[in-house]
Amino acid sequence: MQNLKYVGKNLFLERVSIQNFLKKNKTPFYIYSENQIVSNYSNFVKTFKKTNPLVCFAAKSNSNTHILRVLGKLGAGADVVSGGELLKALKAGIKPKKIVFSGVGKSEEELKIAISKKILLINCESESEAKLINTLAKRLGKKVDIGFRLNPNVDAKTHKNISTGKADNKFGLSIKNFKSFLKEMDRFKNIKLEALSVHIGSQILHDGPFKKTLSVMNNLIKELKLNIKYVDLGGGFGINYSDKEKPINLNVYAKLVSNFARKLKCQIIFEPGRSLIGNTGLLVSKIHYIKRGLNKNFIILDAGMNDFMRPALYDAFHKIIPVTKNSSKMKSAIEFVGPICESTCKFGIYKTYQKIKENDFVAITNVGAYGSSLSSNYNTRPLIAEILINKNKSTYIRKKQSLKKLINS
Ligand code: LLP
Repeated sequence: MQNLKYVGKNLFLERVSIQNFLKKNKTPFYIYSENQIVSNYSNFVKTFKKTNPLVCFAAKSNSNTHILRVLGKLGAGADVVSGGELLKALKAGIKPKKIVFSGVGKSEEELKIAISKKILLINCESESEAKLINTLAKRLGKKVDIGFRLNPNVDAKTHKNISTGKADNKFGLSIKNFKSFLKEMDRFKNIKLEALSVHIGSQILHDGPFKKTLSVMNNLIKELKLNIKYVDLGGGFGINYSDKEKPINLNVYAKLVSNFARKLKCQIIFEPGRSLIGNTGLLVSKIHYIKRGLNKNFIILDAGMNDFMRPALYDAFHKIIPVTKNSSKMKSAIEFVGPICESTCKFGIYKTYQKIKENDFVAITNVGAYGSSLSSNYNTRPLIAEILINKNKSTYIRKKQSLKKLINS
């Protein structure tokens, strides 16, 4: 998070002192750096400059309308996986011709929205879905451009819960089944195959799986002599959550992609989520209680796993840093936990940590992707606020949900 730094003892996001911000704003909340979003986007575009891809931001990683608007203004399209995300992307001003729709289980209602809004591509994931799109398009008197999401059976070498490109995963159509469906596609007059897509998983830190996937696509397109307009290579680019990890280096892959696009004369689409938004956000939380345990002390935060699920779902590491630094040390090991009645409502163990006390504040780092978008009302807790920082200006981009509304809903 390049826009996060200590000035003296105080944590700043861009030019905003979190400590000062806390004087008037209640925790817990998500807070994002707009400058970081801009620089992530422009770095991505720069990496793939030769290819000039359409960058469809994976809205599932952060579906806040204001964030979508920031990315849309930079030129991004959107990769959506539900009718809700599709409508949000449109509301954020993203043009329909920059929207692709993925997902294994799109409903009839969602497909109808996609067809009527004339989005760029519906990336379908099964023969049944393609047939349904054809039926709906026929009924509406339209011809619809579709892509087929393939399952290349490539191991993304990432956490098993976020791996999507192997034969055992439910995503995409196997190449064998795609080939046989292709033979009967002529019968379906209201769909047109304009694209192939793949997405092999998320938080991938090495380029090997991407290169392998590209070669599978290359061989298939050549073998079948497919004449398609677009190849959608998905997202999945990893970021460094800990100092030990290195973010993925995409320079070699970028060259391969540019050669691939030139030879096949197709437009490349990418669907990055995490790599554009992951390192832009903090979750700021108050230490509510400190409870002594037998082996470690529990630092009980006011943020819970309902606000931030990644540690509970994937054992994910997110560094937790103090809002105000000091040089004293805690005497025993500590574990940051939340208030939810689940043992997995915890955020990290530290053998040593600076001295902290009740009512101090900490920030959970790198939570911009799959943070707020994965949050829930579990334990009947309202969704928390989201704030966007631009230099020294802060804007509420989502207010904390009102408890009254939540109870009456
Ligand atoms: N395209 C498709 C079709 C996807 O399913 C995904 C993510 C993406 C693009 C974006 O992938 P990214 O660039 O963000 O890696 N909740 C998990 C991640 C789940 C990813 C699901 N699909 C986590 O917190 O790690």
